[in-house]
Amino acid sequence: MLILGIETSCDETAIALCQSRQSKISVISQTLASQINLHQKYGGVVPEIAAREHVSAIIPLLKEVWQKCTVKPAELDAIAVTTGPGLESSLLVGVDTAKALAFAWKKPLISVNHVSAHLAANWIVKNENDAVPIFPAVALVVSGGHTELILLNSFSEHQYLGGTRDDAAGEAFDKVAKLLGLPMPGGPELEKLARDGNELAFSFPSPLQNSGGYDFSFSGLKTAVLYLLKKRDSALSKKEKSDLAASFQKAAVSVLVKKTLHAVEEFKPRSLILAGGVAANNYLRSSLSSRLAPFGVPLFMPDKQYCTDNAAMVAAAGAFLLNRHLASTWQEVNVNANWELN
Ligand code: KG4
Ligand code: ZN
Repeated sequence: MLILGIETSCDETAIALCQSRQSKISVISQTLASQINLHQKYGGVVPEIAAREHVSAIIPLLKEVWQKCTVKPAELDAIAVTTGPGLESSLLVGVDTAKALAFAWKKPLISVNHVSAHLAANWIVKNENDAVPIFPAVALVVSGGHTELILLNSFSEHQYLGGTRDDAAGEAFDKVAKLLGLPMPGGPELEKLARDGNELAFSFPSPLQNSGGYDFSFSGLKTAVLYLLKKRDSALSKKEKSDLAASFQKAAVSVLVKKTLHAVEEFKPRSLILAGGVAANNYLRSSLSSRLAPFGVPLFMPDKQYCTDNAAMVAAAGAFLLNRHLASTWQEVNVNANWELN
């Protein structure tokens, strides 16, 4: 099956043409335009600017996707678009474009949840014999807007185990990065800074670490960093900043890993899935991988380019839904900015 995926839920405009074969997705052609530089001076994503940028980027990107391959729109089986959760005005650009294309090309349209799409990134393969997750699977979704532990009995049967009670993991990375004076996107910059740091230099709390349940809380950790910086009467040296970044990263990742392994012990899944922008973090990837090894459960992590927002993951989720006959017509699909999986 050939599926065109469209993603505009936040500050990335992305389009991908993908092929699905026996639940594996391969990317034929893809494009992505990030607006991060435009939002940098405001310290966060400005919805109005984001929507305007999506409008000017989306048609040139669409053209580029078709120019980079020999497939023609008539060969498509469906179009998949992120309809939520996300910024309403940004989502509207992708959804309206997808509706117009579905109408013009007479194709089914598939409404995709952004968190489902992050999960589906684990079915994107480079080679036909690459392995993909087997159900039941435990999934940790960690992005700028989400921190969730989910038990998946199939791609669309979710049991929500727990999630953040306040900030998402990526949001905590971004806020601490800002306190350290790092540019956006904060998460990857903080990871870079932490590379030369001593993770034992500062002791930060890992909230709810021993709570037993599957909920998370990251705002206390961010506040602990803020208070530490406020108490200092001189600016941190470069070395101290690295130490602080490494110590924060250790505290944030250790609670994510601990609760995920707890879920693996309790539910004995056949796979563990990591997804979302923070899944690109090497410290999280290697901590989870080494701590999971004794359990004998295979760990799936998307290629880094498919951890952060992209359109191939939207096409991948679309393929699952199309297989289950969950495609719609263009008239039936609408933005659902607050669409939570649970
Ligand atoms: O999935 P995503 O692209 O957008 C959302 O759906 O939110 O995730 C973006 C989040 C941001 O908070 C970003 O700082 C974080 O993922 N992120 C990282 C890394 N790469 C992206 N956080 C820590 N380490 C990274 N390497
Ligand atoms: Zn995302």
